[in-house]
Amino acid sequence: MRITVVGTGYVGLVTGTCFAETGNNVTCVDIDENKVKKLSSGQITIYEPGLEKLFERNLKEGRLHFTTGLAEGIKDAQVIFLALPTPPGADGAADLSFVLKVAEQLGNLMTDYKVIVDKSTVPVGTAEKVHAAILKNSKVEFDVVSNPEFLREGVAVDDFMKPDRVVIGTNSERARKVMGDLYAPFVRQGNPILYMDERSAELTKYAANSFLATKISFMNEVAVLCEKLGADVDMVRRGIGSDDRIGKRFLFPGIGYGGSCFPKDVQALVRSSEEVKYDFKILNAVMDVNEKQKVFLIPKIKAYFKDGLKGKRFALWGLAFKPNTDDIREAPALYIIEALVNEGATVCVFDPEAMPNVKQVVGDKIQYAKHQYDCLEGADALIIATEWSVFRTPDFDQINAILKNKVIFDGRNLFDVQRMQELGFYYESVGRAVSKP
Ligand code: UDX
Repeated sequence: MRITVVGTGYVGLVTGTCFAETGNNVTCVDIDENKVKKLSSGQITIYEPGLEKLFERNLKEGRLHFTTGLAEGIKDAQVIFLALPTPPGADGAADLSFVLKVAEQLGNLMTDYKVIVDKSTVPVGTAEKVHAAILKNSKVEFDVVSNPEFLREGVAVDDFMKPDRVVIGTNSERARKVMGDLYAPFVRQGNPILYMDERSAELTKYAANSFLATKISFMNEVAVLCEKLGADVDMVRRGIGSDDRIGKRFLFPGIGYGGSCFPKDVQALVRSSEEVKYDFKILNAVMDVNEKQKVFLIPKIKAYFKDGLKGKRFALWGLAFKPNTDDIREAPALYIIEALVNEGATVCVFDPEAMPNVKQVVGDKIQYAKHQYDCLEGADALIIATEWSVFRTPDFDQINAILKNKVIFDGRNLFDVQRMQELGFYYESVGRAVSKP
């Protein structure tokens, strides 16, 4: 099939590359000339495990193309995916201007039947708006389909190639057939393609992300309660997760959810609810809990250093909002840095992938270490904000030798409390006992 993907951000690039991998001819369109130049010459623009290999192979074999020209890009396409940004506007609702602008242009450019697919996360009713925007100028038949994306950063290629489900929202038989054929190679294992109307497909994405965010905020509140009642959240997590109705996954307490999806999508669903005069009470609470959670460690740190944080030096491991990505959007580490710097502390950070991105935002307000142990030099405590594998089994002798005090604040519960006690560390984590040697 001949496919066009408009927008070469995270979702667009993964979508385009993975469709090329199953033998389709894919053209990716982006207005950013620099990006298109880089991608055309084989330089990948995002960090995503496994993507580079597929990208290089499909580029070399001529199944993947990049252009800045929308007209040229969609000329022979049967399916056009819109993977454009939908950032939150001033009121928290998703801003559809990028999507609708391209839709209007498509109306002018299309010369035969095409299926236009909303891949970006867009509020309920967007497919209808996109349809109307294309119709303004269109002289040919077309269908608009809602096909939300459920990719997780870090495992996006796997998620795309072996999805738990594919959601296709359309009432058109013709579009349904095209989309079914396109996705058939991805669901061979037996996972379902779920066909539904556009509005249900659009809401499915928001409901999925909001439910997962609710699970996290719920566990974060349980963790607070564990600390207050003297219970251990790891035990409680296992205790409840063994029940199939609850499930083992996504029950890990920490310093809040971040990234490009959960914070934006929960907020957008709350705004959508408000628009139809519905007060989605649970989601408001989910957002409140997450706000507090991002700086959950700060009161603990302040309570430990009774004479204040001014002049103190902290080592911070982990900046990305989660491991295996360089994405720092809504990363809890940024809030921790801000709080510490505002208190007059010095912060030295290390992250395996995300340091260049943080440098762009935070600049020289903090120091950047070459190695995870370098930033411990002269530090009063170590703080852990992201659960990268390299932090999971560190050399505690080395930490002990370099760190000024044997003090660790861990926002991701990486270490066993008992072991830390034996090693002689003051160790505070989330929802568990404090190790006080
Ligand atoms: C998420 C959805 O999982 C994906 O389906 C959707 O398409 C996009 O949003 P992603 O943002 O890549 O994917 O991250 P995910 O792995 O889901 O984690 C989201 C956040 O939740 C991270 O900040 C993570 O640290 C946090 N989290 C996750 C927890 O705090 N505890 C958990 O148990 C799981």
